[in-house]
Amino acid sequence: MSFSFYFPTKLIFSEDAATDLVQELASAPKDGVLFLTDKGIIQAGIATKVLDKLKQASFQPIVFDDIPGNPNVPDVKKALSVIEGRQITHVVALGGGSVLDVAKAVGLLLGDPELDYEEVQWRRQPIKKAPLPVIGIPTTAGTGSEVTHVAVVGDSKGFKMGVLNPAMFMKCAIIDGNLMLSLPPQLTATTGMDALVHSIEAFLSKKANNISDLYALSAIRGIVKWLPEAYKNGANLEARQQMAMAATLAGISFDQSSLGLVHALAGPLCGTYHLHHGLGVAVLLPATLEFDAPAIPTERWDLLRDALALPADAKPEVLGDFARDLLKTLDMPTHLSEVGLEAEKIPAIAETATRMAMIGFNVRSAGLEDCQQVLEAGL
Ligand SMILES: [Fe+2]
Repeated sequence: MSFSFYFPTKLIFSEDAATDLVQELASAPKDGVLFLTDKGIIQAGIATKVLDKLKQASFQPIVFDDIPGNPNVPDVKKALSVIEGRQITHVVALGGGSVLDVAKAVGLLLGDPELDYEEVQWRRQPIKKAPLPVIGIPTTAGTGSEVTHVAVVGDSKGFKMGVLNPAMFMKCAIIDGNLMLSLPPQLTATTGMDALVHSIEAFLSKKANNISDLYALSAIRGIVKWLPEAYKNGANLEARQQMAMAATLAGISFDQSSLGLVHALAGPLCGTYHLHHGLGVAVLLPATLEFDAPAIPTERWDLLRDALALPADAKPEVLGDFARDLLKTLDMPTHLSEVGLEAEKIPAIAETATRMAMIGFNVRSAGLEDCQQVLEAGL
């Protein structure tokens, strides 16, 4: 057995993220904060509460909210352009995975203005200097970006590139279910399913270890128990807090032990059809789990079955039906044709999936024909 586990981010599970943020910024100059968010968060009134608290504490943050879903390098540059010579010392990110990932990139570039982010993406420029401290406040319970050491941002042509480096760990993540109370049901379902897939794939990964298992199994338990409630009754604070906790645990687990076939297929599937990432991984889950089932070792299955709250005599072959039932509970599609997949696109999507790094860690080895078969079975 040989593995390392490195996770330097301070975690604050909070009842009042704004107050905790002010406390975390105690040593920051009042004019040194760059505050990143998106227009949806502003419109929902979530940013106002946090910004008001900052202003009450005499901070004068620069606020940038022009971050789209699926951001690209030009969006990172735009975020940097608003600074206009101000001496920024801290980056605060309030939002979903897109905002958090842009914040990681911005923190890196502010720490070393010589860097060209696209060159870093293509690994033509090494990261040599420490980034600025980034404090992340997630507003969805899904991506886990607040606890991972990867930032996924498209290059200048929109091709999604992950920069994977310990420098991308945030200094601090403040997780507050109160900020998720107004998340619409559909987004609650898709982001929550993304977190479930993170934890299942992390647990089944060939790179899984005893420590990542603790996080993954705890996340799976929490999501299975609380996601349907958070979906049906978004105002249930306990459900929101439990989902926020579970999604963060899922993020830690997959950051350490990698993802698998679902995410390998989701990259090209979502890219081809411009699907929401969470929707893509959710609909891919049943057929992928049916493919994986014969390769799940008995002792791992016992732990997974227990975490999924399945009966003691259930066999791995029930996983596909389990996933489909959960998707139906969340009013989500269960077949890939329902999200637009066309049979003629399967070969190209399968071929791209075989080149995704995480496919090598899937519990069952998957080659080109296997990827095609999973997509056909899920159609
Ligand atoms: Fe994901």
